[in-house]
Amino acid sequence: MAPIGVFDSGYGGLTVLKALEKALPGYDFLYLGDNARTPYGTRSFDVVYEYTLEAVKYLFSRNCPLVILACNTASAKALRNIQQLDLPLLAPDKRVLGVIRPSVEKVSEITKNGHVGVLGTVGTVLSESYPIELKKWSEGRVKSTVQEACPMWVPLVENNEIDSEGADFFVEKNIRNILQKDKNIDTLVLGCTHYPLLKKTIKKYVPESITILEQGQVVAEKLIDYLHRHPEIDDRLSKLGQVIFQTTESAENFENKASLFLDRRVEAQTIHL
Ligand code: DGL
Repeated sequence: MAPIGVFDSGYGGLTVLKALEKALPGYDFLYLGDNARTPYGTRSFDVVYEYTLEAVKYLFSRNCPLVILACNTASAKALRNIQQLDLPLLAPDKRVLGVIRPSVEKVSEITKNGHVGVLGTVGTVLSESYPIELKKWSEGRVKSTVQEACPMWVPLVENNEIDSEGADFFVEKNIRNILQKDKNIDTLVLGCTHYPLLKKTIKKYVPESITILEQGQVVAEKLIDYLHRHPEIDDRLSKLGQVIFQTTESAENFENKASLFLDRRVEAQTIHL
């Protein structure tokens, strides 16, 4: 097998995997969740880089020609170094892609007034990746980017508290904050792959006039385009329609929680990085 590697610190990347499976049905995927060390969102640049590089090396050792960092925190803090410093030495013929660039391209296509809001982990927000990339790639279409760190949202999702009063409280609070930072936002990016699980609550507090951007579908759409443009990578991907799930924590826990994200039961294996 030569599957597409999909990596996240925990379960969040499953929202991306779900969209990828739908968009690229015959392809093989190897999902790796670093559940033993989640969350990444509050960790330093160096630590996120070190952990992410370990995961990428592992996925390369499992014969993945292409790895998607289905984690904004890892995309913000580790992707550039991995692409520029590590890949040329480790595996020049392999590719590692993130979730920020596709999201930035999509935002630039859909915003009408150029006022964008980004919700993310502390790490993603502090990295300033979204404001920097939106400025760089939107060709002037994005005029203002405000951000809000939502440190409680990942733990709420990871602990299956998505329909609780606690979720309602923190979602309302962070949405209120970001809308106060810019009253003209027309596009709101869910800049963390865990957040789509809270969408029902998020929608309660976001005016209907604002477009909420979920990353799964966007990443899938952009990946299809990427594979068309890079047949040399596409040709190397195996297409048996198989999906393998691996975690650095308990396989049983992973199996129980993953069903929440994927609406189906999966079998997982524990691995060590
Ligand atoms: N799912 C990760 C992201 O997209 C964040 C989870 C974490 O903090 O580890 O940023």
